[in-house]
Amino acid sequence: MIRPACLLAFSAALLPATLLFATPSLAQSAEKGKAAFAQCAACHGTKPGEKKMGPTLAGVVGRKAGTLAGLTAPSQALAKFGKTWTAKDLNAFLTAPAKLVPGTRMVIAVPDATRRADIIAYLATLK
Ligand code: HEC
Repeated sequence: MIRPACLLAFSAALLPATLLFATPSLAQSAEKGKAAFAQCAACHGTKPGEKKMGPTLAGVVGRKAGTLAGLTAPSQALAKFGKTWTAKDLNAFLTAPAKLVPGTRMVIAVPDATRRADIIAYLATLK
């Protein structure tokens, strides 16, 4: 006989799996973003404390802009911008860095919206 408690445990076990399969597109775009990040990797590390020309992008979503140094200190422009990075602001920044932050030394734009979304999805996975 199946007791109600067993059923409860069974559905509780199923729930995470359902959530996982409900968001395959998210997982995919972060995966594509990881590949697209090759374009950024010359200047940005993905591990905490990693310094290349630019600051590490580990934990960039939710971090205050212009607070971490790469091999050079953050520009005054980026420090002055000083907003906490959200996916929305990162999207604007990667569309046209100098438009959002006039005077930034970050000059690489990603014109393709899908590619930008993939890269930002990947950035969000970097802790
Ligand atoms: C040629 C080197 C170079 C490349 C390539 C590059 N960046 Fe940057 N990036 C920089 C530099 C330098 C800064 C610091 C800018 C400043 O201080 O104004 C920066 C800053 C940033 C910041 C702000 C970080 C912070 O702590 O506020 C983000 C986000 C960023 N870059 C994302 C990217 C992404 C995503 C790519 C790939 C599409 C990329 N960058 C490609 C050099 C680069």
